[in-house]
Amino acid sequence: MGYVCERCGDLLDVVIGDVEVDGWERFRGREWGVWRYRELLPVDHTRKVSIREGGTPLIPCPKLAEWVGVKELYVKFEGANPTGSFKDRGMTVGVTKALEFGARGVICASTGNTAASLAAYAARAGLRCLVAVPEGAIALGKLLQAIAHGALVVKVQGNFDDALSLVMEAASRLGLYILNSLNPWRLEGQKTLAFELAEELGHDIQVAVPVGNCGNISAIWKGFKELHQLGLLDGLPRMIGIQAEGAPPFAELVKNGGDVLKPVENPETIATAIRIGRPVNWKKALRAVRESEGVVETVSDEEIMDAQKALARLEGIGVEPASAASVAGVKKLSELGEIEKDRRIVCVCTGHLLKDPNPELFHPYMEITVKPELDDLMEKLSHL
Ligand code: F0G
Repeated sequence: MGYVCERCGDLLDVVIGDVEVDGWERFRGREWGVWRYRELLPVDHTRKVSIREGGTPLIPCPKLAEWVGVKELYVKFEGANPTGSFKDRGMTVGVTKALEFGARGVICASTGNTAASLAAYAARAGLRCLVAVPEGAIALGKLLQAIAHGALVVKVQGNFDDALSLVMEAASRLGLYILNSLNPWRLEGQKTLAFELAEELGHDIQVAVPVGNCGNISAIWKGFKELHQLGLLDGLPRMIGIQAEGAPPFAELVKNGGDVLKPVENPETIATAIRIGRPVNWKKALRAVRESEGVVETVSDEEIMDAQKALARLEGIGVEPASAASVAGVKKLSELGEIEKDRRIVCVCTGHLLKDPNPELFHPYMEITVKPELDDLMEKLSHL
């Protein structure tokens, strides 16, 4: 039930042993989603706690491709998951595992989405749930979800990193099972995003992922590598990690070519989901970027908001700010000449627009108030 190796202190990783998967045929004909790939998930699927997660839309975005300056761009819209973010892929496996282990309750620290997702899956599983969030720094929609699903919400007077330290200290005292991304079983669920991309597009792609605690990019890379090892993929994609300029510890590590992460003490960005200064999965993510000959870049809040607006207005895809970081990053890398412009790009958009209902971010926007009369409407429209 542990999370770290007793010998070296690093986070545990799940190793898939001998699995019999002869080809993609094995999965075809099954419903899309995380459990389509059950042979590759080391958990008892007959007892799964599921709300039909995964199987999210892969959307071709020609207008966004032009805006970004690349030939072909797709959005993998993780906002279409049951609680509106990619976390559901991890939680369906993680919470199923928690039951398998006989846990009586679960706990996480969160910038919001993990809390929303865990609260929902814990409710479905009948487990107690405690979520620790940085006070005043999580988006409204996410807080609402945690409350609605009946979690105990602990507002920590500090940032996400402080909340996670507290959770790691408190979990065993409280007898609760941790479901942050340091939990290796949760990442097993998240790796299924790679399976879906591989099934739809093959390996010859570049995959851009917003990076906070470094869990998702690690999980996705693990998924691709497993397929490659099983002979289901002929090659491997290139991983692109994007961080916010004000919360860049992983990007700095990669850019400086170092081997030890230097934490950022006071991370700051409008993309609250990735406002993280001490990402726990940095070693796994570093392997992902280096092995895939990938790249990591940072983007400003302004670039994030521009990308959020472009997604919404050019393609009709509504995502929260952190999710737009992947698109903002690809645009910047394209301008810098650091991505292969002719190789397909997939931007993983991790969470839904409604998570962070903040019209202020969309200036300029059009809004008028009218009497319920045609004359008044016509009059007011004439002034625009
Ligand atoms: N995008 C969104 C919308 C997120 O909520 C997160 C992480 C990330 C990207 C980054 O993923 O941490 O695996 O690198 N949110 C966590 C949370 C930290 O608590 O909801 P990562």
